[in-house]
Amino acid sequence: MVEVRFLGHAATWIKGNGVQILIDPFLEGNPLAAAGPDEVEADLIVLTHAHGDHWGDTLRIAERTGAKVVSTFEIASYASARGAEAWPMNIGGTYAFEGGWLKFFPAWHSSSFPDGTYGGMPMGVVIELAGKRIYHAGDTALFSDMRLIGEVGLDLALLPIGDTFTMGPDDALRALELLRPKAVVPIHYNTFPPIQQDGEAFVARAEALGFEGQALKPGEALVLE
Ligand code: NI
Ligand code: MN
Repeated sequence: MVEVRFLGHAATWIKGNGVQILIDPFLEGNPLAAAGPDEVEADLIVLTHAHGDHWGDTLRIAERTGAKVVSTFEIASYASARGAEAWPMNIGGTYAFEGGWLKFFPAWHSSSFPDGTYGGMPMGVVIELAGKRIYHAGDTALFSDMRLIGEVGLDLALLPIGDTFTMGPDDALRALELLRPKAVVPIHYNTFPPIQQDGEAFVARAEALGFEGQALKPGEALVLE
């Protein structure tokens, strides 16, 4: 059993097999955040890229929880230079941990820290936990190699639908056709004025294509059994 809790924007908290994974924990300053940086626990903090709305409270959470930061070489180096335990990786790499594994895939975007430091290539990630495979696309445009990611066999895809900085709903539906996950949850929308979208309408369109979907409100979770 895996619990996937949406914390707002792209922040996602995944728990299963006794492991807690936080993805892109932008909580303080996130108008939609469903938890504060002192209210989450993590063994691993996985970062898709370095933009402030993803990097967020990584250092603060890593310091309090002892979580290991797993991301690009550049992001891991930045984190470890600031006192966090980190594991440097890059696109294509797999990281095995007690209870599961994760693998990084490309994303079409950019990646720099709020201070301008280069963050390496932006990424998406597939996490396997308790036999379930979850894809968090990070910030990305639609790209046809999503078909290769889908060949992994996905139980759930978390896809940005906000438009402006990432795919919008139309392209996210095309991404679904390539990824063929059992279920989809829209993310990276409604946090700021330029990314206003209707999550329920997106899910209705996904369901019309034969996919399960849920527009999780920040703080809500779904369980993969
Ligand atoms: Ni970004
Ligand atoms: Mn973003």
